[in-house]
Amino acid sequence: MKTELLQKDILDIACDLLVVNLFQGVTKPGGATGAVDKALGGAISQLIEQDHFEGKLGQTMVFPTFGKIKAKRVVVIGLGDKKRFDADAVRKVGGYIVKIGVNAKAEKVVTTLHGAGIGGLDPRTAAQALAEGLHLSAYRFHVYHGTLRKKGEPPHEVKSVIICETENKNFKLGQEGLMRGAILAEATNLARDLVNTPSEHMGPADLAEAAKKLVGKGVTVKVFDKQGMEKLGMTAALAVARGSLNPPLGVHLAYKPKGAKKKIVVVGKAVTFDSGGLNIKPGDSMTTMKIDMAGAAAVIGLFKALPQLDLDLEVHGIFLAVENMPSGNAYRPGDVVKAMDGTTIEILNTDAEGRVTLADALCYARNLEPDMIMDLATLTGACVVALGEEIAALLTTSSKLAQKIVDASRETGEPVWELPLFEPYNDHVKSKIADLKNVGARGQAGTISAALFLKPFVGNTPWAHLDIAGPAYTEKESRPDQPYGASGFGVRLLARLLQKIS
Ligand code: BES
Ligand code: MN
Ligand code: ZN
Repeated sequence: MKTELLQKDILDIACDLLVVNLFQGVTKPGGATGAVDKALGGAISQLIEQDHFEGKLGQTMVFPTFGKIKAKRVVVIGLGDKKRFDADAVRKVGGYIVKIGVNAKAEKVVTTLHGAGIGGLDPRTAAQALAEGLHLSAYRFHVYHGTLRKKGEPPHEVKSVIICETENKNFKLGQEGLMRGAILAEATNLARDLVNTPSEHMGPADLAEAAKKLVGKGVTVKVFDKQGMEKLGMTAALAVARGSLNPPLGVHLAYKPKGAKKKIVVVGKAVTFDSGGLNIKPGDSMTTMKIDMAGAAAVIGLFKALPQLDLDLEVHGIFLAVENMPSGNAYRPGDVVKAMDGTTIEILNTDAEGRVTLADALCYARNLEPDMIMDLATLTGACVVALGEEIAALLTTSSKLAQKIVDASRETGEPVWELPLFEPYNDHVKSKIADLKNVGARGQAGTISAALFLKPFVGNTPWAHLDIAGPAYTEKESRPDQPYGASGFGVRLLARLLQKIS
């Protein structure tokens, strides 16, 4: 789908669908909506008068145009309560526009820069959010649709969305925002592709390959094979990988612009399939475990966008790609494994493998001596119990960082909620025979104890951990810009956070 901003009047472009907007409670449409209303002989205001349209966010009203204007059809979309209006509402509007376009089988859609007028958003922010909403909702994953789907399917796709903005200054800023939004949405869609791809085709080697594809434009990559990981002393991650026929790979992406002021490391959990290992998962819990590399996918997505974001930060992306499988060679409950920094870990459940691999990844990250480490991981089922499928848990050693992450998350529409790194619960991960054990107290604070397990490995480096077990994947499509499957959660949040830090 192509999106472009044109300095033209919406009524001057022929299209299948023209989308204008209306805030809740507005009875006399103004601006672009007013102009369309006039051209249609007052059809819009008439329907409002008859109480058929309240303007709730996402509510729509369709008008045939009977050749009165160049557009074949007009849709008025509600922007909701003006007091609660923000960039995320614009993102949703972008999502609704694509949904309406698909249902109406429209190929060419014309619309306005929603939010930049009486919405009160600056045009750059509005355009970025709109572009994100459009490109995120147009995402499809039908690599695997075969012959049964060919007759008339896959579903209709909107080919082009033209956004009109006549004012000079808004147009310039709008173009910048549109570009940025498209870049970030495409980066998110890359992460979605990686997560949606079945583990059979997204093993450690495939994930490393996806990282290698990003080399250039200032991005470099180092890949460590099993021997390389052995040399580095990553024997905890190697223990997790041992049960699989697919060998592990360590990946270190780097982006080092000249004059960078700070060094940031982002780490992603990269378990390409989590069967649970010898503590094998019951069938229902295993079905979606291809998503267990969503943290690494977010890191890769970030690196796709990084060269185009113009940040004066040195950014490193780390993941240790492994597959957690049961076999005659698998690591066992009761084994004690050693992380890169010498910390010993008693394995009490092979299904708590994420933290074991992250131990080594975080040691490696800490050795880079960064100003901050952030990790993203589909780490605990307990997180889904605590916060549900739409919210990620944030645990951090820095309250300043917490504020920045919460702000960024609000702006990008990727919800997070902070949980405490409650020190007394350190007991939950203390082992009788080793430094740490890889499970917490049964049925208690599983997300917190997992984070407390990770904490020693970052040393004194300011650190934030995002447990994305809930929002990494959705079967509910709770947002219009979030189709079934992988969400790409974290890509835009990371980019936004880095922007705040730089
Ligand atoms: N990858 C899972 C966590 C998960 C669960 C992610 C559901 C997404 C959706 C993780 O490796 C895991 O199995 N965690 C265990 C830990 C337990 C054994 C201490 C869990 O949460 O049950
Ligand atoms: Mn597991
Ligand atoms: Zn896992």
